[in-house]
Amino acid sequence: MAGLISRARRALMYVPGNDERKITKAAGLNADGIILDLEDGVSANRKDEAREGILKALQEVNFGRSERLVRINSLASGRATGDLLAVMPGKPDAILVPKADSAAIVQEIDSLITEMERDLDIESGRTAIILTIESARAFLDLQEICRSSQRVEGLVFGAEDFTADTGITRTLDARELLYARSQLVMHAAAFGFNAIDMVQTNYSDLALLERECREGSELGFTGKQVIHPAQVEIVQAAFTPSAKLIEYARRVMEAAREAMKEGKGAFSLDGQMVDTPVIKRAEKILARARAAGAIE
Ligand code: COA
Ligand code: MG
Repeated sequence: MAGLISRARRALMYVPGNDERKITKAAGLNADGIILDLEDGVSANRKDEAREGILKALQEVNFGRSERLVRINSLASGRATGDLLAVMPGKPDAILVPKADSAAIVQEIDSLITEMERDLDIESGRTAIILTIESARAFLDLQEICRSSQRVEGLVFGAEDFTADTGITRTLDARELLYARSQLVMHAAAFGFNAIDMVQTNYSDLALLERECREGSELGFTGKQVIHPAQVEIVQAAFTPSAKLIEYARRVMEAAREAMKEGKGAFSLDGQMVDTPVIKRAEKILARARAAGAIE
């Protein structure tokens, strides 16, 4: 049974870990999350520099209300342990695990974090894990992967690696990705996780971004990865329930209370039937609006 999402993760923005200027810029954008990147946004000969830059940023930069995430390199790369050793003293809020292809991978990352939390006197279990699902294997084992660690709070769809892995041809309207995106949303919903949609790499076509946000939101995603400051506000607005929707959800809840007093299970509102699932949807809309800070 899905829990209600308590933490808003609408726009999660990547910043290369070795780019101090961009890190400083990112901290002032009011994004729900900043992903300090050690993986594909950083070239192989800048990885050490990025580890140092990220630790320094975690210790010195004020990220305001933004969650501080670090994307480490994959376990298969051989760099993951060193990445964690380098950044954990900065107490990141969450670790973004790329190429989370199996439960064993996630369990291994979980135990490394557990060990380091202990050694560094960090409150046990404080560090969340967000998983990037970006291979065919990961989708086959997704249920097991979702169960593999208590720390997991979100699933991220890695469209580019996924199409590279599967040989699926990437098109502009992304219809070829519908099945995978829906699979991811379904698992996230079942486990009460955030579901975070793919990156739109074209950061100059904001109308395209807006359309893709709307489609993602309709599919059930709760947020989206972004790569450029211009994308943050559009994404956060698109994944916040609109004022009209909030108003409707409140009226449903109010009418439901009245109906309950009168002992009615189903009742009518604006000429439409309202019953338990509609009330549940209204509750979720209000919970999302609350998490996003749109209502008290
Ligand atoms: N985080 C923080 N600031 C960013 C940013 C990001 N991801 N992307 C751009 N900016 C800043 C730029 O530094 C610039 O600020 P400045 O003028 O004060 O220096 C401003 O936003 C406008 O940027 P712009 O000139 O339009 O783009 P750019 O050429 O500097 O950068 C990219 C374009 C794509 C290289 C850059 O957006 C980027 O590095 N994105 C992240 C890529 C990434 O991490 N990919 C891996 C995960 S998919
Ligand atoms: Mg990837």
